[in-house]
Amino acid sequence: MENKNNITVFGATGRIGKELLKLLSQARIPVTAVTRDQNKAIALPGVVWVEADMSDKTSLSAALHGSRAVFLLSSVGKDFVKQQNNVIEAAQECNVRHLVKLSSGVADKESPLYIPRVHGEVEAFLKGSGLPHTILRSNGMMQNWLGELSDSVKQERKFYESTGEGKRAYVDIRDIAAVAFTVLTTPGKHINKTYLLTGDEAINYDQLARVISDVLSETVTYVPLSLEEAGRQMTEAGMPGWAVETFLAYDQAQRNGQAAFVTPAVQDILGRPATTIEKFTQDYADRFR
Ligand SMILES: NC(=O)c1ccc[n+]([C@@H]2O[C@H](COP(=O)([O-])OP(=O)(O)OC[C@H]3O[C@@H](n4cnc5c(N)ncnc54)[C@H](OP(=O)(O)O)[C@@H]3O)[C@@H](O)[C@H]2O)c1
Repeated sequence: MENKNNITVFGATGRIGKELLKLLSQARIPVTAVTRDQNKAIALPGVVWVEADMSDKTSLSAALHGSRAVFLLSSVGKDFVKQQNNVIEAAQECNVRHLVKLSSGVADKESPLYIPRVHGEVEAFLKGSGLPHTILRSNGMMQNWLGELSDSVKQERKFYESTGEGKRAYVDIRDIAAVAFTVLTTPGKHINKTYLLTGDEAINYDQLARVISDVLSETVTYVPLSLEEAGRQMTEAGMPGWAVETFLAYDQAQRNGQAAFVTPAVQDILGRPATTIEKFTQDYADRFR
């Protein structure tokens, strides 16, 4: 049998992909990293960059040639299902032996909401393809706080969200990358499994405000918004209707206490606890200061 050791990473310039590349490079595993724009390539030992677009199936074989395994991630847009299914088909044609797909925590092909539905449709296609796979369904990510929320803390020591007092076990992107690394490099028992990745504790935004306050040694306040106000702000910021509808439904579920679940998957796979909000906030303190 051909001795294939290489791993191809889609989404390599993104938030999770960058962390995964670092882990694979440190472990001296040869990697093909995919981007649509070589100017975004990050130089790392053992990482070869290939320009390819998931919308263009003919561009994918160079990215997949000689690869044992694939990490599949892309941002959600209007052609998401076609793009991700192109990679699954091309992986099969190139005799890839294992595909790890980053999915939504609430993926469901019957969902009325766009983001869970499209992830669910790709999951169904992947399962039906017969390609050995692992699905990593992610809960809301802590790094989502590094943007509007952290900027607002920086500027006015307040932040605004529409989740009421509802809790969610947010997961650190570095833990997702570590799980992906483990599953890609020791696939054995992870083949054809689906894992829901959460943090170890569900928290609400009053708790996050207290943790940020402790790290900054200054009072930071969470200001609750109504769903109507949050929807208006997202629309004004130019977000497409399908995204606004999905994010408001996530917030509504959290307000209602339906998002407060915790799973042991990160602990089970990594053999250590998931990253806490205290550690996350300390590590990214400069973004809030
Ligand atoms: N945010 C959350 O809380 C959350 C929760 C659960 C699941 N998710 C899922 O996580 C994923 C986003 O992860 P992330 O934040 O790490 O991504 P990200 O930082 O938004 O990066 C997106 C990546 O996708 C690549 N990409 C997009 N379209 C492509 C195409 N046509 N061909 C090739 N590459 C393409 C981009 O590559 P180039 O631009 O370099 O080509 C980039 O590396 C989404 O699928 C989302 O649904 C997010």
